[in-house]
Amino acid sequence: MDYLWESRLGSKLNEKVKKFTYSIDIDKKLALYDIKGSIVHAQMLEKIGILSKSESKIIIKGLKDIKKEIEKGKFIFKPTDEDIHTAIERRLVEITGKIGEKIHTARSRNDQIVLDEKMYLKDSVNNILFLITKYQISLLKLSEKVFPYIFTAYTHLQQAQPLLLSHYLIAHIEMAERDKERFEDSFKRIDILPLGAGACCGTSIPVDREFVAKKLGFSKISGNSIDTVSDRDFIIETASNCGILMVHLSRLCEDFILWNTEEFGFLEIPDEFATGSSIMPQKKNPDIFELIRGKTSTVIGDINSLFVLEKGLPLSYNRDLQEDKRSIFEIIEITSSCLEILSEIIPKLKFKYRRMKENISPFTLATDLVENLVKKGVPFRSAYNICGQIVKYCLKNKKDFNSLSLEEYRKFSPLIDKKMIENLTVEKSVEEKISQGGTSPDLVKKEIAKWKRKLKRYLGKISNIKKENSM
Ligand code: ARG
Repeated sequence: MDYLWESRLGSKLNEKVKKFTYSIDIDKKLALYDIKGSIVHAQMLEKIGILSKSESKIIIKGLKDIKKEIEKGKFIFKPTDEDIHTAIERRLVEITGKIGEKIHTARSRNDQIVLDEKMYLKDSVNNILFLITKYQISLLKLSEKVFPYIFTAYTHLQQAQPLLLSHYLIAHIEMAERDKERFEDSFKRIDILPLGAGACCGTSIPVDREFVAKKLGFSKISGNSIDTVSDRDFIIETASNCGILMVHLSRLCEDFILWNTEEFGFLEIPDEFATGSSIMPQKKNPDIFELIRGKTSTVIGDINSLFVLEKGLPLSYNRDLQEDKRSIFEIIEITSSCLEILSEIIPKLKFKYRRMKENISPFTLATDLVENLVKKGVPFRSAYNICGQIVKYCLKNKKDFNSLSLEEYRKFSPLIDKKMIENLTVEKSVEEKISQGGTSPDLVKKEIAKWKRKLKRYLGKISNIKKENSM
């Protein structure tokens, strides 16, 4: 028989229908997970007496041979292979004969596909956790290198207040840390064994699900069988986690793109990471950052597809769900590759300290002047108004905080003294931002040391987990 369901529907399948319904080109990515799941399933069938010892031995050997064929690129997919499950079962029967026909006992492709996807995602998430950590480490290295460069923070893309560049970079380390927490939290919901739910209602065969869970490294077994074969929350969750992470990367890239312009001139991209124009010889373009920003929209589009795919589905399994793989595979691929390339480029970025500092408008110190008056007892709003008038006076008379004389200052408030004006520098401004989480160099130095410890510990932990991956 060529097709699984030939006995019920006959052997003629319209060629166009075949092309339309087959998913092998996409789900063959899951081949090794499918085989691993089948090996453990066979062991379980032996344990409960469905397979004899010798039968399970033959089946497991057959599956291992198929694994080798796939790894060596020697597996030949046939035109009748609808998806990865049917391809492997077909080949198993070719190798082992009638014995191989027993492998699909007490399982359905509906619980099998969820198993494969979960195994794939567990490895992918562990890899992403590793890649995020490497990305954080690259940011940390750069923040050490550029300590204590000062530039300006922006709000509304207008110069706001002096800021340590390291402090800016640590902001992105913190964003990535939240991403990691989200991935770790949703990992718990991927880590639940679906196999044993059967097509949708369980099975009359007395399967040992705990045994399978233990062997495949799942922490728990799923409950309700209808939910088990219908549930793709774990895919939407992981996809959304990737989406938030990609938005973070995209925002970093947006800043880097701006800073790389002639107008800002803060940043230089090493030649090996930049591209030129086919017509304008003077150009050196930040394509990597632009592509990360662009690929973020592909990921957001894929997430949208996943939501729309599920919203109208009746329980339990529906073939629509086959489409989830296209999206989640693309999301995982894009997210991983963006993290990888950023970790390469970030430590090699060159910041132009002089330009960054010269670019800071003295008026970014206005809030410092306000706070200094507040420290002398002036109510905040009055101090704000005094400084507002000083700024207005400066703009009208083409002056700034540095070129104003003490007498001019004192016209606005007699409380302003020489020391207060001398202290009106960008260095002093950052030095004084000592509230927790502020940009003072002392605090930032402590933050760098804290992240160094934390990331080193995490990298050790996640590298070990990655080594014991599902395959
Ligand atoms: N290729 C299918 C998918 O990805 C596998 C499950 C097929 N189940 C079925 N009853 N046709 O969802």
